[in-house]
Amino acid sequence: MELLRTIEEARQFVLSQKKREKSIGLVPTMGYLHEGHLSLVHTAREQNDVVVVSIFVNPTQFGPQEDLDRYPRDLEKDRNSCSQASVDAIFMPAAEEMYPERFHTWVQVDTITETLCGASRPGHFRGVATVVSKLFNIIQPDRAYFGLKDFQQAVVIKQMVRDLNMPLEIVTVPTVREADGLATSSRNKYLTAKQRASAPVLYNTLKLGQRLIEAGEHNADVVHEAMVKEIESQPNTRIDYISVCNPETLAPVDKIENRVLLAMAVWLGNTRLIDNILVEA
Ligand code: PAF
Repeated sequence: MELLRTIEEARQFVLSQKKREKSIGLVPTMGYLHEGHLSLVHTAREQNDVVVVSIFVNPTQFGPQEDLDRYPRDLEKDRNSCSQASVDAIFMPAAEEMYPERFHTWVQVDTITETLCGASRPGHFRGVATVVSKLFNIIQPDRAYFGLKDFQQAVVIKQMVRDLNMPLEIVTVPTVREADGLATSSRNKYLTAKQRASAPVLYNTLKLGQRLIEAGEHNADVVHEAMVKEIESQPNTRIDYISVCNPETLAPVDKIENRVLLAMAVWLGNTRLIDNILVEA
């Protein structure tokens, strides 16, 4: 497995793979890899000749009051996980190389970034779209892999690829969950034992919403209210948002007629967790 620390090293690696007509799958990550990331890597491994994992804690997608400084990092463990998963190369550039002085170009996806996480994290998706565009330009993958836990991120990246005619396929991979339903996330590490015990309430609440819809409830307000009550029944929780929305536009729906996305962000202490499920009406 190769460790590519600079953009130049990455370009040389990519060039040699392209010369040999190898297809490249890219798994963009911020490191501290867990089962969710590894499921992206396994899917990429099945579909490409060469798999590249990028590890870059992207400063531009964190707000000033967010957790950039304490975001968990464990490069040694990540290297082992990647090596065991038969990754061909890790690309781990320094922040100064990705964002040198006089960096002035940003990728802004409108409308679908104004709701859900975009509403509570202004500038977040501009940072994500910009860094992902840069990774696509550097690695030139045939396919790139994103987890559905970050459903809005996947929708934003697909829109960007479509709007800017980027020549690659975006592959989305289902959320990986712990045995009690908690979606795997690097941020789960922040949870205290008490908060960890409360954390399955997110998935349980999504399942409650699903049961109501599958039992014939068409009024999104009724589903929304039941979900709010369920989260609030658990101590130490604070709702950022709960949404019953259209999975393509991410706009809230009034009447549930087709497939809907149930999505939420909930604070447990200082940790903000997100989760979602798709439900057929
Ligand atoms: O999902 C993530 O870990 C990040 O948002 C990504 C896609 C690696 C961009 O920094």
